[in-house]
Amino acid sequence: MAKAKSVYRCEQCGTDHLKWAGQCSDCGEWNSLTEVSIAPTVTHRAQSKIGGGGYAGQAANVTTLNQITVSHESRLATGISEFDRVLGGGLVTGSVVLIGGDPGIGKSTILLQTATYMAAAKNSALYITGEESLSQVALRANRLDLPTDKLRVMAETCVERICDVLAQERPAVAILDSIQTLYTESLQSAPGGVSQIRESAAILTRFAKNSGTALFIVGHVTKEGSLAGPRVLEHMVDCVLYFEGQSDSRYRMIRAVKNRFGAVNELGVFGMTDKGLKEVANPSAIFLSRYDEAIPGSIVMISREGTRPLLVEVQALVDDAHGQPRRVALGLEQNRLNMLLAVMHRHGGVQTSGQDVYVNVVGGLKITETGSDLAVLLACASSLRGKALPQQLAVFGEVGLSGEIRPVPNGQERLKEAVKHGFKYIILPRGNAPQKAIPGVKVIAVARLHEALTEAINLD
Ligand SMILES: Nc1ncnc2c1ncn2[C@@H]1O[C@H](COP(=O)(O)OP(=O)(O)OP(=O)(O)O)[C@@H](O)[C@H]1O
Ligand SMILES: [Mg+2]
Repeated sequence: MAKAKSVYRCEQCGTDHLKWAGQCSDCGEWNSLTEVSIAPTVTHRAQSKIGGGGYAGQAANVTTLNQITVSHESRLATGISEFDRVLGGGLVTGSVVLIGGDPGIGKSTILLQTATYMAAAKNSALYITGEESLSQVALRANRLDLPTDKLRVMAETCVERICDVLAQERPAVAILDSIQTLYTESLQSAPGGVSQIRESAAILTRFAKNSGTALFIVGHVTKEGSLAGPRVLEHMVDCVLYFEGQSDSRYRMIRAVKNRFGAVNELGVFGMTDKGLKEVANPSAIFLSRYDEAIPGSIVMISREGTRPLLVEVQALVDDAHGQPRRVALGLEQNRLNMLLAVMHRHGGVQTSGQDVYVNVVGGLKITETGSDLAVLLACASSLRGKALPQQLAVFGEVGLSGEIRPVPNGQERLKEAVKHGFKYIILPRGNAPQKAIPGVKVIAVARLHEALTEAINLD
């Protein structure tokens, strides 16, 4: 087979250059040249024999959609039910899952647990490490008491050699730890660079689609918390999972940021133990801090992450500002907090312009949905007035710019979750009000922000 050549392509104008330069001679853009491999024509032809067009590796024959024979999407259990949940009900064969997270958060741990489980369950699994030595992997497996007799392991970083081994071994699942250590022989640049990552991922994705081997690929994150490497990496793969959670907490959350086979934003909750990551059966319970008495500024919101309602405590501290007032949101979007405070001023009559406002979501969770709006504002109002809200109160609802409380999806499910956990007062949007009364629970349906503020403050 002819060896692939590489050129330097401008990401701005797409012009190819034979040599690297700091500036594109065509469009004048700086630092826009990245190395890409150009496979000779014969390679393209050879590739099409094994079905190689695009990342999905489909043969380039035109047909109508109804002529495609669809095999039922088969899923493999990972041995950890919360992990299956995040993947949308198990790992789809031939899919590529990218998993990212802070250093030391548990990426290798969960994948080693999954690999040993899948190997023991007669799905052949291959663990390929580029970052750690095989003895380090074995040491971790022994510490976690994992069954090691069926899991095959290999230390390798060359993508072409990895594909050769995978083609021979044909495992149901392969783990690649991590994409930053892999390199392809078709490029001369060092492993970890943008072009190496993109090319390696493209080769592996194509391989997975053609062979049916599911791949877990570990990706490092940048200081800002996003996956290191080109953004296009996230488009190539089927599923992107992120680890969340504070390093001082023993809880870890895995969120599906993208999933072609399941709900996006699905959240799996785990506890880090000396025997590895264990699923948390009742995640709502860990995001509620339990005090003996009610304290101002604290409230429970009924959020929904992915397909599951979740009870989460939000805390606010509103205090006189010394100098420029500060607005700090942890676990929420800062701009949304600014907007909500403006709405509360205009439509709720509560002014925070001379105050510092700090809002924190307990447990290091990131709330991504608007159903948390009302809870955030009630927590701020409670802290400002120094008046505690009842511990038995749970809240959800979106706040609109004109002070209206808008309904949110899956209201009844959220309500049920709060009732299940023994909450006696529930403030919700009028559009989400239940048809029937719930015995022992006072449901307060509100349409405007000022109504919600008055109702909450008057509860005892
Ligand atoms: N003896 C131990 N007891 C309990 N937990 C441990 C023990 N040793 C390690 N851990 C946990 O395992 C974590 C390391 O997990 P792991 O190596 O899977 O992380 P990682 O995400 O793969 O990191 P990296 O990005 O560096 O590869 C540690 O942060 C710690 O929480
Ligand atoms: Mg690791």
